[in-house]
Amino acid sequence: MFPLHRGRRLRLNESIRNLVRETTLSPSDFMFPMFIAEGENYKVEIASMPGIFRRSVDLTVEEVKELFAVGIRAVNIYVKVDETLKDNTGKEAWNPNGLMQNAIREIKAACPEMIVMPDVALDPYSIYGHDGIITNGAVENDSTNEALVKMAVSHAEAGADFVAPSDMMDGRVLRLRQGLDAAGFQNVGIMSYSAKYASAFYGPFRDALDSAPKEADIEVPKDKKTYQMDYANRIEAIKEALWDVEEGADMVLIKPGIAYLDIVREIKNVVNVPIVVFHVSGEYAMIKAAVERGWVDNDKVMMEQLMCIKRAGANLISTYFAKEAAIFLNNLK
Ligand code: PBG
Repeated sequence: MFPLHRGRRLRLNESIRNLVRETTLSPSDFMFPMFIAEGENYKVEIASMPGIFRRSVDLTVEEVKELFAVGIRAVNIYVKVDETLKDNTGKEAWNPNGLMQNAIREIKAACPEMIVMPDVALDPYSIYGHDGIITNGAVENDSTNEALVKMAVSHAEAGADFVAPSDMMDGRVLRLRQGLDAAGFQNVGIMSYSAKYASAFYGPFRDALDSAPKEADIEVPKDKKTYQMDYANRIEAIKEALWDVEEGADMVLIKPGIAYLDIVREIKNVVNVPIVVFHVSGEYAMIKAAVERGWVDNDKVMMEQLMCIKRAGANLISTYFAKEAAIFLNNLK
């Protein structure tokens, strides 16, 4: 109580602030989401994500080495699939020589210590841009799970360290755990997107992969709201995370990030596995757009948002700022 206590004594100068700081960030807190495309020596910037590129596998490998050198220890990988390979079954997703599988193999060969977490969801492979198989106008849960198991096992065969199901089908974590174990991959982990909201903040990501729900010759849902969560809900997120842990998830992920930090804290309070937060494409795009206009400071806003995500309870942050933020932190040393 004042005047015995003065809160400002602990903020008097930078040294004191350093002593009492409750949260710190380091490069290994970040995971970098990477977009991979066919071809060689191919690198194209994503219009709505300045500084973020779609790269062919060879250039992805070079980038992964640079990421490792600045202290990043994990990458999330997503592929842009050729239109001719898409269908309603998603079968290209478990092609042992598909783009994803090749990328995993090449990255692990060049940089074995980088933890590789391929995305497990059918949307880049679906002609309808959905995360599952469409039957009678709806995304069918259980047959989609069977497809996801084949996909995840093919990622494990290619050398993935973790698989990262982002599809929000019911029961897929259990099915993936059983499928990986049956195939002999007991040590391949599952980082589950447990509380993934149906969010408009994924727009730039869908541009990057051309994976948005599309007009079709048959009746298909126009959005992902029958599987991704309603952003009005909080209790439901806790339920989803608890189920995923029971089903065998090694880590649970919440996304988007900044607008969902209440959910991060709620889940942190009830699960005993590491928490991952995905600071998604739209969040990155908004900051970069404001930076381009000179309206906010890139480094300051970047570090503030990442610190706040960690403070809320994240053990790991998947962010398009990963490399920039790691370089920023290294330069402070
Ligand atoms: C696809 C997937 C999406 C993201 C990660 N995995 C998009 C979606 O669900 O439509 C979004 C990531 C981002 O916006 O950065 N299953």
